[in-house]
Amino acid sequence: MNTGKNQPVRLRDFSPERELFLRDIVSGLRKSPKKLPSKYFYDHRGSQLYEEICGLDEYYIPRTEAAIMQRHVGEMVARLGKSVTLIEYGCGSCTKTRFLLDRLPDLAAYVPIDISRKQLLRVVDELGRDYPALEILPVCADYTGDFALPAPRRRSERIAVYYPGSTIGNFEPAPAREFLRHIAGVCRPGGALLIGVDLKKDESVLHAAYNDRGGVTAAFNLNLLERINGELEADFDTGQFEHRAVYNKAEGRIEMHLVSRKEQVVRLDNVSVPFARGESIWTESSYKYDLEGFAALAQAAGFSVDRVWTDERRWFSVQYLTCTG
Ligand code: AVI
Repeated sequence: MNTGKNQPVRLRDFSPERELFLRDIVSGLRKSPKKLPSKYFYDHRGSQLYEEICGLDEYYIPRTEAAIMQRHVGEMVARLGKSVTLIEYGCGSCTKTRFLLDRLPDLAAYVPIDISRKQLLRVVDELGRDYPALEILPVCADYTGDFALPAPRRRSERIAVYYPGSTIGNFEPAPAREFLRHIAGVCRPGGALLIGVDLKKDESVLHAAYNDRGGVTAAFNLNLLERINGELEADFDTGQFEHRAVYNKAEGRIEMHLVSRKEQVVRLDNVSVPFARGESIWTESSYKYDLEGFAALAQAAGFSVDRVWTDERRWFSVQYLTCTG
């Protein structure tokens, strides 16, 4: 792999270890109700399935966000300015980032961070070919934790974080505030956060987006059990669990669950986990915001909303926040 001025790329690898995975899964399955961290969806297969979800008709987020980016990228890059270090949290396939990279020739460096090493290396390889003059400093890490950020060779005027896809919606409100505060610490005053935030909308649209007809979201959800089986030698019978996604209007969130079809006991690492028939494992929350609610959250975390772009239906927003510290 080769990116930026023919220097070989050095991957900073802070990927989580098996022990941590095991600890999180066992403690999540001991909770009542049972609850697992959604970040564990994204092993290689999970990342592939998420990519597939992103191509579904029902899953409006990627194309709505991409249309907003395409339409307003000029205003976005004008705000980002020159000699900026652009850090992307959870870069995935970096599709939307290209809108920015195409228009930011003066970038000091691009730092893509992702937990999926294989996908990160593939994407960095492609970007290296398409943007040969750009210094790319990939980091494999769980970006919710602490890790050292690489320093660019070029002088950088400021730091901007790009966090698309409304992944902020996968945090509960208090951890979302903490995480944004952590980003504010990375950007420092004068820096910025360009963030995709999904908005509240008609329930039927949300229901269809998380219960697609082709069953890709169900496969994505169930893959978490496959992953636990493969990596932690557990014996989940995935045919005995069912995907369920419901919109909780009072809380403003989609809740994804895996529901046990029968009474059963699952074993993992010498632990027996009993399930009643109909009992669920809560695997993900996906919060939907209104603009006022998100502005209040951003402010509590040390950001001020500078500009909001939305699509015509106001289904999704891309927001430019400046760090006030
Ligand atoms: C990554 N994240 C923003 C997605 C979401 O919509 O909450 C994950 C996802 N879960 C089911 N479909 C997509």
